[in-house]
Amino acid sequence: MTVQHTNQTEGYKAWLRYDKIQDQIWLAENKYWLTSITVLETSPIIESAKRELVEAISSFTGQNPTVYTKHKKIPTIVLMTIDRLDETIDFSLHDDGYLIQTKDYNGVSSIIIAGKTDKGILYGSFHLLRLIQTKADLNDVDHVENPSNRLRMMNQWDNMDGSIERGYAGNSIFYENNTITKEKDRLKDYARLLSSIGINGISINNVNVHKVETKLITEKWLPEVAEIAAIFRQYGIKTFLSINYASPIEIGGLSTADPLDDEVRAWWKEKVEEIYRYIPDFGGVVVKADSEHRPGPFTYERNHADGANVLAEAFAPFQGIVIWRCFVYNCMQDWRDRKTDRAKAAYDHFKPLDGQFHKNVVLQIKNGPMDFQVREAVSPLFGAMSGTNQMLEFQITQEYTGQQRHVCYLLPQWKQILEFETFAKGEGSPIMRIVDGSTFDNHVCGITAVSNIGNDSNWTGHQLAQANLFGYGRLVWNPDLSVEEITNEWVRLTFGNDSEVIQKVTTILLESWPIYESYTSPLGVGWMVNPDHHYGPNVDGYEYSVWGTYHYADCYGIGVDRTVKTGTGYTEQYFKENRDLYESIDTCPDELLLFFHHVPYTHKLQSGKTVIQHIYDTHFEGVEQAIHLKEQWISLMTKIDSERFESVLQRLEEQIEHAIEWRDIINTYFFRKSGIEDEKQRKMY
Ligand code: GCU
Repeated sequence: MTVQHTNQTEGYKAWLRYDKIQDQIWLAENKYWLTSITVLETSPIIESAKRELVEAISSFTGQNPTVYTKHKKIPTIVLMTIDRLDETIDFSLHDDGYLIQTKDYNGVSSIIIAGKTDKGILYGSFHLLRLIQTKADLNDVDHVENPSNRLRMMNQWDNMDGSIERGYAGNSIFYENNTITKEKDRLKDYARLLSSIGINGISINNVNVHKVETKLITEKWLPEVAEIAAIFRQYGIKTFLSINYASPIEIGGLSTADPLDDEVRAWWKEKVEEIYRYIPDFGGVVVKADSEHRPGPFTYERNHADGANVLAEAFAPFQGIVIWRCFVYNCMQDWRDRKTDRAKAAYDHFKPLDGQFHKNVVLQIKNGPMDFQVREAVSPLFGAMSGTNQMLEFQITQEYTGQQRHVCYLLPQWKQILEFETFAKGEGSPIMRIVDGSTFDNHVCGITAVSNIGNDSNWTGHQLAQANLFGYGRLVWNPDLSVEEITNEWVRLTFGNDSEVIQKVTTILLESWPIYESYTSPLGVGWMVNPDHHYGPNVDGYEYSVWGTYHYADCYGIGVDRTVKTGTGYTEQYFKENRDLYESIDTCPDELLLFFHHVPYTHKLQSGKTVIQHIYDTHFEGVEQAIHLKEQWISLMTKIDSERFESVLQRLEEQIEHAIEWRDIINTYFFRKSGIEDEKQRKMY
């Protein structure tokens, strides 16, 4: 495969564009801030901050700023650690936090970027660049920032053959032909993108660890993994690997991977020591065990705590962590068996083990109990284990949300999930406060997500899907930011400050998730997709399969009865307030009705419509709205460069065509099943 040299494209620059500033009024008032940078300390991370500022400012103004290492008593941007500010401050900074403020320093007005550590300085520098790009008044800057989440991670699902599991933007930028890439520039640019939004950890290979990737923790590959780690380290990002639980057998030559076996224990200890000889600040491992045919402790009749703790023991001396995934369920279910409910599985497996995991183990829980559907309930495991570290897993890559061919901006969904009130410790225990550690005083916790980038020239295939990556980082840094604030920021950084562009692109993004939902799967039922690749409508695609993902549509009704009273009993897994809310058909929110209840097509929703009419209406409206997305985009033709304009336009056209396919297949299916006419007599087949 030939390496694509893509850094000349508009899309490649993403939100780190640093275009020449044209606004003369802003320049007149602010330009003296863009003439010098004073860097009072050094470290590889501070070097990255300095480099970014110098390059950005040069391209904003066309002139290189002067770099000083001592304060020269001139107006300047000063980079330093907060301890140097010899004045009392009335706030405290966490390790990654920073202050950015226009203030008097050594008798002259300066823009101070002061981090608790060098990482804070880097984050503060990116913050200043955002302020410049969005034309803030630099004479009056005043921010103190602390990230809410300690772990702000990215999971690559990249395979060493260069493919990406559920990747929709080309091949891997990490690997090709079963080797680690030699093309490191792109990794550096990825690190810049991630660090600009506050990401501080990355696991660089797929959670499904196949034969070749199992060897990433051997001397064959560790020197090159160390090279990757060095790139990310400069941007304050720790490297993690996904490991194969059967490594002691597959690469260790042992006959077992039983976590309670002494030889296995010793093997992991030695292995982890070896990893740290190559990468002294290695973050730790991500483990998918006993999930979708991956090996795990169940083979030896051990539980997940036994499984995770043997690794935790080996990592503890190095402050490494073990990220243990909870995506564990029976993927060989008999579809005839209506009692087994996949949604219950994670809770059933893990809740009984509360308190048994070592301190450096953190459970990684997908946002929903099924699998990243366009709409599903929130996992009841959040908050249910007060004695166990938990982190949340989102999916930025759009596996079930249009595969980056459709625009589907996921921030509104993530925001809802983070704000979901679990009632784990009474009112005031939303998911964001569980995973930031504050509810149960956990110290190893945070948020992670499956990345959506590949080697496509614009990183994400769909130009607008960059907003999901950007928004993810910003939201994880501060879940209290509003979706509107983050979106506005992304549009301005990416497309400039024209008010019509800001308004229309923002609208397109904010409308996109409900639109995608409306022409795909109704009322939380999910899964009406083609098996395997998951693109496109197929109502019965998973209905008679082993995966535990059913909708039970017949000629009378549809939905999964997950109530305690008559169904699978899943609702029991929530705290009382939510249990009651979902258990009753009268209070269950419309958008999740079919996730929790099996109802006749004639059932009246809270909206006043019947279920069947809701299905018809949303599918017809969804297509109309998709057409409207395109119209809005077209009206921006003269305001967006042709490269990005055309590429988005093409995708919006494909989206419309495809939305029509969804509409006609879903509506026809339910029309034929139910025999109920559309009140509005629209075309069915
Ligand atoms: C989904 C996805 C798989 C992935 C799995 C996981 O099922 O389709 O490709 O491996 O999630 O999260 O482990």
